[in-house]
Amino acid sequence: MSNEDVTIERIVAGGDGMARLADGRVIFVGGTITGERVRVEITTNKKDFARGVALEILDASPHRVSAPCKFVAAGCGGCSWQHLAVTEHMSTKVAIVQEALRRTAKLNEADASSLVKTGGSVSSQASRTTLRMAVLQNGKLGFRRGLSNELVETNPCLIAHDLLNEIIATVKVKNATEVTLRCSASTSERGVWLHDEHGRGQVTGLPKDVGVGIESLVHEVIAGVKLRVMMTSFFQSSHEAAELLVAAVRAAAGERALSGVDGRIIDAYGGVGLFAATLLSADVPVSVVESSESSCRDAAVNLFKHLAETRDTSQPSEIVHSNIEQWSPVSAGLVIADPARTGLGPLAVSRLVATNVPRIVLVSCDAVAGARDLRLLIDSGYELEKVTVLDLFPNTPHIETVSVLQRKALTTR
Ligand SMILES: C[S@@+](CC[C@H](N)C(=O)[O-])C[C@H]1O[C@@H](n2cnc3c(N)ncnc32)[C@H](O)[C@@H]1O
Repeated sequence: MSNEDVTIERIVAGGDGMARLADGRVIFVGGTITGERVRVEITTNKKDFARGVALEILDASPHRVSAPCKFVAAGCGGCSWQHLAVTEHMSTKVAIVQEALRRTAKLNEADASSLVKTGGSVSSQASRTTLRMAVLQNGKLGFRRGLSNELVETNPCLIAHDLLNEIIATVKVKNATEVTLRCSASTSERGVWLHDEHGRGQVTGLPKDVGVGIESLVHEVIAGVKLRVMMTSFFQSSHEAAELLVAAVRAAAGERALSGVDGRIIDAYGGVGLFAATLLSADVPVSVVESSESSCRDAAVNLFKHLAETRDTSQPSEIVHSNIEQWSPVSAGLVIADPARTGLGPLAVSRLVATNVPRIVLVSCDAVAGARDLRLLIDSGYELEKVTVLDLFPNTPHIETVSVLQRKALTTR
């Protein structure tokens, strides 16, 4: 392994700093900030690029801070941006999104800058209401070290809601490698789900009110609407994140499209019905399309207020338990699509475009996958109006964007 001194040009998607080696190749170095002079140990050598670790910060950025969490010094890799001042997180995320729009979505320089807007940020401490944590040998909870499978106990965890830190302080887990902790910031309900394939997991030391297992659930109030969320269903990482996201999707979609006058609304990758239940009045027809069984069960409760079959024929609305890729498209006036980190991809884009929808709101939790999906949608006849960047995962490089596209008018000859 060799060492070299480099200057960080910018922070890239994934959160590492990027610099150039003397031989012209780019190198990616974690824990570094734009403008810093850094001594790096080159740990991975490829033909076109290298990876390295920072041995010494020779000339530090004015935005470098001491990590607010003591477990970063112990090696915890859960929050990899604690060396960067919180005030710089949003502008850094905006720059990463703009680069993805230029490189991956192939937008020109002017559009990549002007179409990107800054949205809201979640509090940088004590906000997380859902956390997936690893189980240490002693039964306590923590996270992996950066670039390693070794675990670091994190009690208390800086980003966890106080209700979760109470669990983290006392819990002991046996025969499971990971657990999901969830609490509701509105009702204070909380639950624990052990990820143990063989059902042999055991948990002790829990406060009395904590529900255990896949059937335990919490109710969270978002935009004034009470939502049921089972432990196995996806929910946004924090109450604040869900509120910010609902508000951003409302602004992007516009009241007209949400009123249903343009046709049925498709809440694709709809989860427990977060958008359908909070943004639409009960008489607006909506199809929530979702692959997870427990999320569909929650969505039925959240939309219809009773346990419904997958299709409830008395309702103009439906919960469709299906992958988007296998779903039969129906005509729509608005699509809201909120895929997992891998994004939509060509097949899901083709399903959504087949609804002949005039307006699409795309929620992306990965800047590069989101930019790839935007290019696919633009090539399918849509025009990008705006991309709003939200900081729902402070202290980390994770980026959420809400993009809105309008179908281009057909030109007649
Ligand atoms: C990022 S979450 C968004 C959920 C919801 N919109 C929310 O904000 O709470 C993505 C959701 O898509 C579901 N999902 C993943 N792959 C899917 C697919 N191929 N088709 C339909 N749903 C999928 C997951 O179960 C998850 O509920």
